[in-house]
Amino acid sequence: MTRRRMIYEGKAKILYEGPEPGTLVQYFKDDATAFNAEKKAVLDGKGVLNNRISEFMMTRLAGVGIPNHFIKRLNMREQLIKKVEIIPLEVIVRNVAAGTMSKRLGVEEGTQLPRAIVEFCLKNDELGDPLVSEEHIAAFNWASPQEMDELIALSLRVNDFMSGLFAGVGIKLVDFKLEFGRHFENDVQRTILADEISPDSCRLWDLETNEKLDKDRFRRDLGGVTEAYAEVARRLGIIKESAQGAEIVSFNGAPK
Ligand code: CDP
Repeated sequence: MTRRRMIYEGKAKILYEGPEPGTLVQYFKDDATAFNAEKKAVLDGKGVLNNRISEFMMTRLAGVGIPNHFIKRLNMREQLIKKVEIIPLEVIVRNVAAGTMSKRLGVEEGTQLPRAIVEFCLKNDELGDPLVSEEHIAAFNWASPQEMDELIALSLRVNDFMSGLFAGVGIKLVDFKLEFGRHFENDVQRTILADEISPDSCRLWDLETNEKLDKDRFRRDLGGVTEAYAEVARRLGIIKESAQGAEIVSFNGAPK
């Protein structure tokens, strides 16, 4: 393995300098964290599954015209991505009340919302990613008014597409988090989807049983975390049957 320069290490991923200017390599770790990293674990195979699931989602989204940072998967744990300047906001889209929204507003978890709700949180671990309003975003210039419009429009398009995609495989898309970046190409700036889309960043419930197939299994000590992620990958047709799924889950290699 050639030594690559590490650019950034996050909770679940590492970014390395890419092979060409304007590219990065995104490496998916098996590390899981919750409650602002107060709870930690290593879940064998999670990174491999998230690499594949995120590849699948980004590819499908590109196919319906939603620009994103994904270029190609390099190996079991790494993908080549476009380098962007991350907009310091987490965009959360909710279809069903759960998690923080249920706690904050006293809406029972599982309540269908009257329409998709978009929330913004400031990306700041020290502050615990606080909820912010469009007023805050404009006043502190975290995103321009034009970018705000793009974030909302793109997030709702992602929601429409992914809700349908998951419903087709018997999964309810309860909520999810997106991150966006500023991509510069020949002096043209574009807002594109970045980061990852995986069961780490989405709430996914079985349509019939409401069984959780996402990171809440880890947050709430429900067990079977990677098994649930593998089930999502299996339903999406990313991994074939459970036997092969187990093969992928058990892979624990270092980056090639
Ligand atoms: O996850 P938690 O209950 O702390 O917060 P939430 O606001 O209810 O999360 C909404 C959705 O965004 C869930 O699908 C989370 O998994 C996801 N999320 C995330 O991926 N990263 C964060 N820093 C916060 C939320």
